[in-house]
Amino acid sequence: MRRLTAATAAALLAAGLAALAARAGDAGEALFLRGEGAEVVLAGGRLRRPASDFACAGCHGADGRGRREGGTVFPPILWSALTDPARPGGPYDEAALARALESGTAPDGRSLGAAMPRFALAEPGLISALARYLAQLDLRQRRGVTADGIALAPPADPAAARAFAAALAAENLAGGAWGRRFRLGRAAASLATAEEAAAALAPAIDRALAGLAAEALRASGQARAAVAPDAARLGPALAAQGVTLAEDAGARLAPTAGGMRLSLPGGRVLEIAPADTPDGGTPPDAMPGPLAAAALLGHEIARAALACGRGITRACLLETLGRADLAGRYAIRAAEPPASSD
Ligand code: HEC
Repeated sequence: MRRLTAATAAALLAAGLAALAARAGDAGEALFLRGEGAEVVLAGGRLRRPASDFACAGCHGADGRGRREGGTVFPPILWSALTDPARPGGPYDEAALARALESGTAPDGRSLGAAMPRFALAEPGLISALARYLAQLDLRQRRGVTADGIALAPPADPAAARAFAAALAAENLAGGAWGRRFRLGRAAASLATAEEAAAALAPAIDRALAGLAAEALRASGQARAAVAPDAARLGPALAAQGVTLAEDAGARLAPTAGGMRLSLPGGRVLEIAPADTPDGGTPPDAMPGPLAAAALLGHEIARAALACGRGITRACLLETLGRADLAGRYAIRAAEPPASSD
């Protein structure tokens, strides 16, 4: 009985602590995302307004990694960035964060510009909650990133995983990204999975495929094309390229693994596929589509990681993939017309 009581007490205590921690975490999140629990101080302290229109996320980004808008630089406020000992303005701790928010003073005594509001927090404990939230955001955004490595989870298909790994190995030989080598890791310990990266890259692939298809259509005097139902997502990108989509068109676009097939009137067939020779020599047409696509993904991840720089975050990687210009990464070549044409 006594043991049960002790165990119950311990469980209650643990539950209480967890609830307390969750509440503190929520308060940090509420302040960061919605400006709750604080007021902004205006007109040199004479005016106060609820900070709901001045959430940190609105200026520093929901991922806290900062951004640039017009001439204004919103610095990154991920906890790792703020506490970096090599930070030019000196590293932050919780007290320094409180000074920055309340009096607009940086650790080195510099006055922060007026574009950074001055805040009055409802309670001092909010600073710890906010710092915890920023650290947690950091962990989520930089999972798998270490001083010398970036972990990525490979595709599930073993052959695709090998092509993906080969592409990353080639990128490592070429120097990796900012002193870091690409590694394969478990999904839960990686910056992103190949699937997530592929989903992020998909719009860039669609733009590239639509651009090349439109070019090929124009070159063969076609302004209209039918698009197979499973390639319907390409419709807007094709329309943006001036192609009219019509069910009864003589030209027809259909997806292939890793690219597109364009059937032209008269039986001519073109194939649009990745043009890379990723692992140092396999000619693209000898590489099956899905493997070429996995290799292309590996190379594009490396390019995006270079573009994101030393402070790479998950959000930066995925956004950069979505903006990739892949026009030169695909090639058009003549393919075998369907066998039935005789
Ligand atoms: C209206 C836009 C805006 C909002 C809202 C805002 N900030 Fe800022 N913040 C800025 C700008 C701009 C700077 C850069 C000021 C400078 O360097 O002079 C800055 C700087 C900072 C700095 C100093 C970083 C450094 O380089 O020393 C910290 C810390 C910071 N913000 C945290 C926050 C937190 C936490 C919140 C939410 C409670 C927040 N900011 C809300 C615009 C904003």
